[in-house]
Amino acid sequence: MCNKNNLEMLAKSFAVIHKACFGNTSTKFSSSFILSLIQNPNVKFIEQEQKGFCLARLSDVEAEIITMGIKPEFQQQGIGYSILIRIIQLIRKTSCETIFLEVASDNIAGIKLYSKAGFNRCGIRKNYYQISNDKKVDAIIMKKILVE
Ligand SMILES: CC(C)(COP(=O)(O)OP(=O)(O)OC[C@H]1O[C@@H](n2cnc3c(N)ncnc32)[C@H](O)[C@@H]1OP(=O)(O)O)[C@@H](O)C(=O)NCCC(=O)NCCS
Repeated sequence: MCNKNNLEMLAKSFAVIHKACFGNTSTKFSSSFILSLIQNPNVKFIEQEQKGFCLARLSDVEAEIITMGIKPEFQQQGIGYSILIRIIQLIRKTSCETIFLEVASDNIAGIKLYSKAGFNRCGIRKNYYQISNDKKVDAIIMKKILVE
């Protein structure tokens, strides 16, 4: 069981990892915002030794990967795939039948990771991510069907 102190520590750790992964585009994912997410019983998370984490929100028959990240020094060691598979397994135990996510169209590592885990591209949101004052990037929407 996670008590309040544990959740606060986790939220801080997730915020540090998120900032290391996304830099200045990470401002929304402060530790207080992440704490509000992980205190929500519909939000599930998997983390591994403060190296990486994944957050997912459950909503009736759909789940959404909110975000995930692996500290840069631990990337490309299989941790992201392992965490993603573990959260998919967790979601499979719920009423959710489909998992959706959004990933930046220029995030090759993210798109390849999600494809490897069985997510398929199903849509696009134009200019979804504001990268800087004068740069926006499309979001690719991907989904994975859990039950046929
Ligand atoms: C995307 C991310 C989570 C991948 O985590 P990771 O632990 O490095 O990934 P893994 O080592 O488990 O690799 C799994 C698969 O992802 C893909 N992948 C990972 N890093 C990659 C890279 N740099 N280039 C291309 N493909 C990559 C590959 O398909 C890989 O499978 P393979 O090794 O069989 O080729 C990580 O790069 C990261 O945290 N990036 C910044 C944050 C982010 O983009 N999050 C996802 C979008 S919300």
